[in-house]
Amino acid sequence: MSTTGTVPTWSIDLVSDTSTKPSAGMLAAMATAEVGDEQRGEDPTTLELCAQVAGLLGMEDAIFLPSGTMCNQIAYLVHCRPGDEIIAASSAHVFGSEGAGAAALAGAQFRTIPSADGVFSAAEARAHIRPLRQRSPRSRVISVEQTSNRGGGTVWPTERLAEIAEVAHASGLAAHMDGARLPNAAVASGSPMSAHTAGYDSAWIDLSKGLGCPVGAVFAGSKGFIEEAWYWKHRLGGAMRQSGFLAAAGLYALAHNYQRLAADHENARLFAGLVDGAGGARVYPARVETNILFLDLSDCALNADAIAAKLRPHGIRFGVESPTRMRVVTHLDVSEAQVRRAAELFQGIFDER
Ligand SMILES: Cc1ncc(COP(=O)(O)O)c(C=O)c1O
Repeated sequence: MSTTGTVPTWSIDLVSDTSTKPSAGMLAAMATAEVGDEQRGEDPTTLELCAQVAGLLGMEDAIFLPSGTMCNQIAYLVHCRPGDEIIAASSAHVFGSEGAGAAALAGAQFRTIPSADGVFSAAEARAHIRPLRQRSPRSRVISVEQTSNRGGGTVWPTERLAEIAEVAHASGLAAHMDGARLPNAAVASGSPMSAHTAGYDSAWIDLSKGLGCPVGAVFAGSKGFIEEAWYWKHRLGGAMRQSGFLAAAGLYALAHNYQRLAADHENARLFAGLVDGAGGARVYPARVETNILFLDLSDCALNADAIAAKLRPHGIRFGVESPTRMRVVTHLDVSEAQVRRAAELFQGIFDER
């Protein structure tokens, strides 16, 4: 990654829900936040955010962290010992997109369950728990991702989540939830976040995705778990000072940007309906549940780079995943009209030919 040069600006940026910028209301809340020293437990706004998120997730306590990645890594550092094994979907962010952090930091390895939509069954989870044998890695955690990013924003049903937690606990494993987009799942399913996290030992939400904050994640669990998480937060350099300026954005987001996620889901479905079949492009998943969808370009005359190059002059960006795959993510900073415009331009690329 270059550290110099100009950064392009995008008028319709559908590459990720991380591309939101704080709104005027959010910035005002940040600017007027009451703050103190977070490391000493003296930042009232951070304490308030942690209390709110613990309540929303039905957990005893919570801790504010700089990123979702740090939440996942701290989860494994607390739950695992070197040589342990984590069970997760093969498409999971923790397995493929966190720099092998579980191995590098916690000394744990993954045992993955092949899954196109990022969801697996209780029976599959059970089958991946190893019998206790001195020569085998010890299965220690079952890790789920709500919603599944690589799966295309798939929502795990709450019943399935509960079954997975039960399977984990029956064999003495912990159940962990990467809830980067748990707020999307809660809004899409109509069940509160606590219904998704019930029975889980640790779960977190990202503030910097659909909720529209510039930075931060909140990690929740039992009092004992969060106490251990604090040791790792310090060791990893995640302990902060006047973090209330950031936490204020989180509180603002929970009040203003949470329930409106339904609009992002509507926009994703609208886009899917408009572009499916254009130039041979196929949308998947077939039923778009939240704010993420993929375009399969296998039958298109143009590859993903060529399409991106045609969209660029219009200030429009989709994610390029491979020559035959693009990703589109709707969010707070993309309106229905912009989604229609992006779809129209995408269709136009093929009409031109
Ligand atoms: C499912 C999932 N988990 C974890 C993360 C990591 O979150 P962060 O970017 O806050 O470190 C992401 C980020 O894209 C994600 O999509």
